[in-house]
Amino acid sequence: MGFLVGLVVNVALLSVPIGSTLGTLFKIRPFENERKPEEKPHNTLITNSSCSEFHEFALNKIGLNYTLNSNQILNESDSTLCMNMTTFENATYPTNSTAPEFSFTWQYPFRNANESAPANQTKPLIHAFPQASISGVVPLTLEDLGGLTLDFAWTMGIGNTNAPSTSVRRLGAQLVNASVALDMYMDPDESKAGDAGKAAFEMIIYFAHYGLQDPVGFGNGTIVTTEKLGGTDFRLFAGKNANDQNVFSWVATEPITEFHSDISPLFNSILALNDVENLKADTPTFTDFLGYVGFGTQAYNSVGNVTFWVPRLSMDVRKFGV
Ligand SMILES: *[C@@H]1O[C@H](CO)[C@@H](O)[C@H](O)[C@H]1NC(C)=O
Ligand SMILES: *[C@@H]1O[C@H](CO)[C@@H](O)[C@H](O)[C@H]1NC(C)=O
Ligand SMILES: *[C@@H]1O[C@H](CO)[C@@H](O)[C@H](O)[C@H]1NC(C)=O
Ligand SMILES: *[C@@H]1O[C@H](CO)[C@@H](O)[C@H](O)[C@H]1NC(C)=O
Ligand SMILES: *[C@@H]1O[C@H](CO)[C@@H](O)[C@H](O)[C@H]1NC(C)=O
Ligand SMILES: *[C@@H]1O[C@H](CO)[C@@H](O)[C@H](O)[C@H]1NC(C)=O
Ligand SMILES: *[C@@H]1O[C@H](CO)[C@@H](O)[C@H](O)[C@H]1NC(C)=O
Ligand SMILES: *[C@@H]1O[C@H](CO)[C@@H](O)[C@H](O)[C@H]1NC(C)=O
Ligand SMILES: *[C@@H]1O[C@H](CO)[C@@H](O)[C@H](O)[C@H]1NC(C)=O
Ligand SMILES: *[C@@H]1O[C@H](CO)[C@@H](O)[C@H](O)[C@H]1NC(C)=O
Ligand SMILES: *[C@@H]1O[C@H](CO)[C@@H](O)[C@H](O)[C@H]1NC(C)=O
Repeated sequence: MGFLVGLVVNVALLSVPIGSTLGTLFKIRPFENERKPEEKPHNTLITNSSCSEFHEFALNKIGLNYTLNSNQILNESDSTLCMNMTTFENATYPTNSTAPEFSFTWQYPFRNANESAPANQTKPLIHAFPQASISGVVPLTLEDLGGLTLDFAWTMGIGNTNAPSTSVRRLGAQLVNASVALDMYMDPDESKAGDAGKAAFEMIIYFAHYGLQDPVGFGNGTIVTTEKLGGTDFRLFAGKNANDQNVFSWVATEPITEFHSDISPLFNSILALNDVENLKADTPTFTDFLGYVGFGTQAYNSVGNVTFWVPRLSMDVRKFGV
């Protein structure tokens, strides 16, 4: 049974005016005129933290801006969702698609996704899908998409600090149910393509998943097709979520904590499914728009805090022929 993965990015969270968060980028210097002018270049690192709903904007002066969104679906009294983001004061990153370093620390109790299911068939309910998303280069049509090179390194650990590496054993001991995924939305309508609640199509790539969740479209486990990216096989499951959106879930056959590859072949692969019989989802077409791309972690439940750390991320969207 699928969960409401397609609903997780709150519509309102995607349309925060950039101006409202730009203030976070400038250092406030209240006593400037009382000091002697300093010669220091503006090359420091700025760390911003928040433990309530967040939409933190990071300007990259030479290219893509990123926004960290909390995307909380279900808050609970006894829970945590915090973020830390480290930006360059000069807003000049090594490449035009480099994201600021960030981490999310969270903790949510277990909730059964289906209250009427027998006790031995419990599946967890998702609480949040905090992500780093891009704007400016999307929306663009799939036929105009020349490539989407995704580059990342991450760790997931227990507690409140950035773990040097991911220990499946430690996550399991804390009963962590979580995933690491790239989330994308598409629609024939340019404005709906960026709206997670209204877009007709969602494609989600799972680089790792810990715990019991099945992706939307998992059903009885029928694999639609398999693609190899960066040396790892990704299995495709297709289906509709409770919101009647068509969801294409690619699941890596082994956890991928470091990645550098063009993921655009996965779009071609789902476009080519239009003549597959008995497919449980409708397929997009070349003229449909890709309107949203975000990288983050699905937070279901954990006994204690979990920290997802992303020291390296870039999403280089290239237009066809450029
Ligand atoms: C971000 O950090 C800067 C520098 O520490 C600070 O001036 C600013 O108020 C912070 N913004 C938020 C939203 O916390
Ligand atoms: C911007 O700041 C970063 C981080 O301090 C530094 O590494 C980089 O050299 C600076 N770039 C420019 C163009 O000043
Ligand atoms: C969740 O709710 C608690 C208690 O009402 C609040 O303090 C916290 O800021 C909320 N968390 C988020 C991420 O909105
Ligand atoms: C970043 O640079 C690459 C290579 O020069 C270019 O193809 C791409 O369009 C640029 N992206 C942005 C957002 O500026
Ligand atoms: C919830 O569980 C009950 C009992 O097993 C089942 O009949 C029902 O279809 C399930 N509902 C969903 C949405 O999975
Ligand atoms: C759950 O329990 C029922 C009745 O005890 C049993 O028939 C069923 O096979 C169990 N299911 C699983 C997934 O263990
Ligand atoms: C990044 O944000 C700045 C400031 O809002 C804007 O001028 C610029 O066009 C944005 N860049 C992209 C690629 O959207
Ligand atoms: C995030 O920042 C807060 C406040 O500076 C700090 O206490 C916390 O340890 C940081 N978390 C991580 C995971 O680095
Ligand atoms: C996922 O959460 C459920 C409920 O807390 C738990 O029974 C299960 O062990 C978790 N998965 C893992 C791998 O720990
Ligand atoms: C699994 O689902 C597929 C697609 O709905 C169906 O064709 C197939 O017969 C099912 N297999 C089993 C073993 O139920
Ligand atoms: C979990 O993290 C939050 C936010 O950093 C912190 O306030 C809380 O004390 C942590 N809980 C535990 C058990 O360490």
